[in-house]
Amino acid sequence: MTMKAGLYISEKKVMAGQIEVPDLQPGEALIKVAFAGICGTDMMIYAGKHPRAKAPLAMGHEFSGRIERLQGDSDWAVGDRVVIEPTLSCGKCEACLAGASHVCKTLKLIGIDKDGGFAEYVAVPFDRLHRIPEGLSDAHAALAEPVAIAVHTVRRSNLKVGDHVVVLGAGPIGLLTGMIAKQAGAGQVLISDISSYRLAKAEQLGLTALNAKEVNVTEEILKRTGGNGAEVVFEVAGNQITAKQMIETVKTQGQIVVVSVFKQAPAIDLAAMHYREISLTTTRCCSKSDFAKAINLLHSGAIDVAPLISHELQLEQIEEGFHLMENPDVSIKVLFHP
Ligand SMILES: NC(=O)c1ccc[n+]([C@@H]2O[C@H](COP(=O)([O-])OP(=O)(O)OC[C@H]3O[C@@H](n4cnc5c(N)ncnc54)[C@H](O)[C@@H]3O)[C@@H](O)[C@H]2O)c1
Ligand SMILES: [Zn+2]
Ligand SMILES: [Zn+2]
Repeated sequence: MTMKAGLYISEKKVMAGQIEVPDLQPGEALIKVAFAGICGTDMMIYAGKHPRAKAPLAMGHEFSGRIERLQGDSDWAVGDRVVIEPTLSCGKCEACLAGASHVCKTLKLIGIDKDGGFAEYVAVPFDRLHRIPEGLSDAHAALAEPVAIAVHTVRRSNLKVGDHVVVLGAGPIGLLTGMIAKQAGAGQVLISDISSYRLAKAEQLGLTALNAKEVNVTEEILKRTGGNGAEVVFEVAGNQITAKQMIETVKTQGQIVVVSVFKQAPAIDLAAMHYREISLTTTRCCSKSDFAKAINLLHSGAIDVAPLISHELQLEQIEEGFHLMENPDVSIKVLFHP
């Protein structure tokens, strides 16, 4: 039996097509996808720059849905509403044995290493399923993964109540990091971008927007932090300009958290960091408990992702979805509703 899928074909080429409905292995559930979001990683696959993605691929690792079929014993039932934690770890490497399976030596993702949520159905191991609580919509639950990235990011920081926080880059991950930092008690969250559309969203979400096209971001941040810089700077734009700004805008003995996946290795002034005892922390994916916390924040209403969902499209509109995501002045999060 075949199903509809949104496929990566080759560099800058995506299309709606038909692929086989996946067979279930023991311990897997067949998920009927409700909503699936386009992420920066999907954009990297689309650009032909992802080292692991092999065409043709149904992309999409941020998705929610309903259990259609089960293979093997579990507490799950057909009809349960679920959101998928997309990481697949080996369970045997040192990181996995130490309980840090999100940094598994051979970490794989549904939607990158195997077909994902831009399709009618996906086969998902039971332990990658999280229940969607009553009252949380399928569309909002589809953003649990990027929320969990932001939860993990903020939990990796030393953020304390009342701290000044800087977020460089107001894409979906930057905006969510700013929102979670605020929840965690940040005194003020200054967020920069070059897109006035995304900065307007930031203001709507209670963050203080700095337009890098209009102001000198470093000067502005120093001015707004008593000349000292911020206790915590999150780098979420991933370019040479922000790699420089992250050092200029962090306080002496402060912390930089690099969230971005840099496409080109940036030059980093380690001497400037040494003089002021700056720490640098990196962050990757999230743990299972971060994912559960993200669902809690969505369910309680502490984090409202509605303003981040810029478009809801059908899988047939996959080309349009990727064109929209290429332009940060018109989109933040595009969801497909297969
Ligand atoms: N650590 C992880 O596990 C993890 C998970 C998801 C995404 N990421 C990475 O996080 C980064 C952000 O993800 P995203 O989905 O929000 O991407 P995105 O591309 O939508 O966001 C980046 C933002 O930076 C802005 N920007 C560009 N130049 C800038 C400048 N000079 N100053 C300020 N802003 C500038 C862009 O306009 C854009 O809004 C990416 O590098 C992505 O790969 C990391
Ligand atoms: Zn993602
Ligand atoms: Zn492992």
